[in-house]
Parts: sequence; C-alpha cells; structure tokens
Amino acid sequence: MNIIFIGAGNVAWHLASLFSNSKTEDLQITHIWSRNKENAELLKNKLNNNDLKIHSSITQLDFSKTDADLAILAIADGAFESILSKLILPKNCILAHTSGSQPMEILKLANQNFIKNIGVFYPLQTFSKAKEVDFNDIPFCIESNEKEIEEKLTNLAKQFSQKVFQVSSKDRSILHVAAVFACNFSNYLWTISEQILKEKNLPFDMLKPLLGETLKKALEINPSNAQTGPAIRNDEKVITKHLEMIKEMNLDDNFGQIYKLMTESIQKK
Ligand SMILES: NC(=O)c1ccc[n+]([C@@H]2O[C@H](COP(=O)([O-])OP(=O)(O)OC[C@H]3O[C@@H](n4cnc5c(N)ncnc54)[C@H](OP(=O)(O)O)[C@@H]3O)[C@@H](O)[C@H]2O)c1
Repeated sequence: MNIIFIGAGNVAWHLASLFSNSKTEDLQITHIWSRNKENAELLKNKLNNNDLKIHSSITQLDFSKTDADLAILAIADGAFESILSKLILPKNCILAHTSGSQPMEILKLANQNFIKNIGVFYPLQTFSKAKEVDFNDIPFCIESNEKEIEEKLTNLAKQFSQKVFQVSSKDRSILHVAAVFACNFSNYLWTISEQILKEKNLPFDMLKPLLGETLKKALEINPSNAQTGPAIRNDEKVITKHLEMIKEMNLDDNFGQIYKLMTESIQKK
C-alpha cells in the first residue's frame, strides 16, 4: 500500500514510523507534504527512506499523478479547510484524517469536491515526538462512508492495535471533549504545580509518587470515587489560605481563578 502523509507533526511522526516498520503488510510511505520543509526532512530521516519525496509548497498538493492508495491528513484542525481545498489525490485513493474533533464529511472538500473514498483513522492517545508510544493498547476510532473502506482502515489499525472501534463523527467528538479534560487539562494542572514548586525552589520530583497514585486510583476505583482534598472536605480555612498564597506568588493571575472554579465545581457534587 502506497501512503502519503499530509503533515509532519506529532501524529504523522508516530504513524509514519509505525507504518514503515509494519511486519505484516508492505506499507510504503511515498510522499510527505509539510508546510515546513525541515519538519518533513526530519521525518524522512527518521524513516530512513531515501526514495520518499517531500512536498512543502501550497502549490504542491496535487498528487493526482502518483500511485497513492492512502493519504493520511494529520495537520492542525484549523488548517483543514485551506489544505483540503487544494489537495488533489488519485481517483481511488482513500483520504483519512486523524482528528478527534473534525467531522469525516469535511474531507469531501478534497479533489475539488469530487473525492469518493473518505474515512477517519483517529488514534485516541497523546503524541509528542519526544516520547515513544506503544500502539498495541491505543484505541483506534475508525469511520468511513463506504463499508469496504471502513474494513481497509480497520484492518490497517488491527495490525498495530488490539483496540479498534467503528465510531461515528458525533461520538468521536464527544470522546475528544472527554479526552481534553482527561489529558490536556490534567497535564496543564500538573504544569501549574510544576510552576508553583519552581517559584519556591522545591523539586517537582516530590510530587511524582502522588501523580502516579492518583492515576492508579482513578483507574482502579473510578475518578468519581477517588476525590480527596480541601474542596471535597469543605475545608474553607485551607482554601482561603491557598488562594492567598497563590495571589502572593509571582505567577499567572489565572491560577487563583482556576483553583476557585475547580473548588466550587467539586463542592457542587
Ligand atoms: N498530538 C496528539 O496528541 C493528537 C492525538 C490524536 C489526534 N491528533 C490530531 O492529529 C492532527 C495533527 O495533530 P499533531 O499533534 O500532529 O499536530 P502538530 O504536531 O501541531 O502538527 C501539525 C501539523 O499541521 C501543520 N500545520 C499547522 N498549521 C498549518 C497551516 N495553516 N497550513 C498547513 N499546515 C499546517 C504543521 O506544519 P508545520 O510543521 O509547518 O508547523 C504540522 O505539520 C490534528 O487533527 C490533531 O487533532 C493529535
């Protein structure tokens, strides 16, 4: 199967490596299109594939003369419309995106609105180039407008993961909102902790056993059964003191607001 990657960010980085290391099927990455040529070069080097062609200009999105079977669109969600309106693929090529929030139908903007084969290949995980991931355990959310394409994308995902599901655009967007709270926002709260400790010259390492146990407990007994702390205990004296301490620190003004909002939300339960 010949594959084109549109985008050379975190997701493309991991999926392209995964595909090119496939042991069960011959998956050839033939082209990478990236707005930033250097990022495409970095990915090409990672894949160690000299035959791979790099396109980086907005005028180089016409792949109609290639023999691509699959194009993976892994770009920032805000860039979908502008890139899709210029993307041209061979007639039978499948176009699949990797986004949690974009509807599948948006892909119909490709091939000047004449694309036939569209789908979604969404890995529900957090990806950063600097961190390896084990795909075996990653849920893949698959969707397509054609049964045959859904099967192809499902079989592709099943080569790498034991958790492959058919998920509609609507359900995927709900999973995505939940994932933003579970991953992006929790990570930001840890970043606030990191900044508070840095401000007072204390090591973030001291919190690592707590982070580990919090996650372990939430997975074992469910987060709603695992809440502890001053908010759930209605410990108003501690809460007031914490708010004063945060105010005195030379940090983002929003941190106090976030503390207050989270406390109120926990107390409403
Ligand atoms: N990272 C995750 O954890 C994760 C997980 C699952 C799904 N996803 C989804 O996968 C997709 C890609 O995410 P990512 O994390 O790989 O993003 P990323 O690391 O930020 O990379 C985004 C890619 O989009 C390109 N891009 C950004 N703005 C553009 C524009 N205006 N025109 C053309 N190209 C543009 C970037 O090009 P430059 O290199 O030039 O900046 C880069 O190649 C998104 O739909 C995202 O929702 C992400």
